[in-house]
Amino acid sequence: MDIKKPFIVGAGIMGAGIGQLCAQQGLEATVVDISDEVVNKAREKVKTGLARRVEKGKITQEDMDSVLSRINWTTDLDPARECDFCIEAISENLDAKKVIFESLDSICSPETILATNTTALSISEIASATSRPDKVLGMHFFNPVVIMKLVEVIRGEKTSGETIATAKEFAESLGKIPITTAKEAPAGIVSRVLAGLLNEAAVVYADGVASPEDIDEAMKLGAGHPMGPLALIDMIGLDIHLAKMETLYGNLKDERYKPPEIIRKMVAEGKLGKKSGEGFYKY
Ligand SMILES: NC(=O)c1ccc[n+]([C@@H]2O[C@H](COP(=O)([O-])OP(=O)(O)OC[C@H]3O[C@@H](n4cnc5c(N)ncnc54)[C@H](O)[C@@H]3O)[C@@H](O)[C@H]2O)c1
Repeated sequence: MDIKKPFIVGAGIMGAGIGQLCAQQGLEATVVDISDEVVNKAREKVKTGLARRVEKGKITQEDMDSVLSRINWTTDLDPARECDFCIEAISENLDAKKVIFESLDSICSPETILATNTTALSISEIASATSRPDKVLGMHFFNPVVIMKLVEVIRGEKTSGETIATAKEFAESLGKIPITTAKEAPAGIVSRVLAGLLNEAAVVYADGVASPEDIDEAMKLGAGHPMGPLALIDMIGLDIHLAKMETLYGNLKDERYKPPEIIRKMVAEGKLGKKSGEGFYKY
């Protein structure tokens, strides 16, 4: 199945990135969000990122214009009717995602695959909002989407082999390397393995052991990580990290996944990381 017109729901960090990635690969992408304000902000962000690449001589102005012309920004779900593959990347909230999947199920052609970029929510529960659970799966892109090579392909209980194969082919056509989980698993591989590290870094900071800068530098120098864990939480978004930990803790009932108090406190204070201008660092 040759995917030509992907439809992306959510124009935040991930949705805008997935839209840009698809357009860079020559596809006509539609990206929807809840208001003109959010959509315009996302469009400007993509434009600024591409303009920086033009300045650095990595792409031409023509390339930039043609990528931008292939992204259709909207606040309307209806264009999903014309699309052949949907990727949902709205906030990490099960009820909200189920509402979107129910709508997409009624709008899209019966052949259309509906993927979710959820970090940790149950694919099967999201799929239960549709009449096509065999065509629902997780496609977990990584941030920044245009750069990170991995896409985790995550099964729901009823996801068909054909759906998995099509999603893997689609990921490869976008220049990514898909890795598929053998069974449904909350938070797939990377987010689950990383969870403990990110939480512990936040606790080490909260305990006053070291500053964010020193914690991050220590992990880069001592563990060979390309980026420090606190800078990574800021990039992911503290709200997204908290939602993931709550899901993991709720599902697996294991104290290892209990969200640290410092993360809850910072989210309550609106310190969501890069996207809000402040997290462990100021932006
Ligand atoms: N941030 C990361 O590093 C990362 C990485 C992998 C996966 N994810 C997952 O991707 C999803 C999106 O994360 P994000 O970081 O882009 O979040 P974000 O907060 O940057 O963006 C979410 C967007 O969804 C929009 N939205 C909310 N409800 C909507 C609706 N009903 N219809 C249309 N748009 C709606 C919001 O307005 C917002 O623009 C989450 O499920 C998250 O867990 C995030």
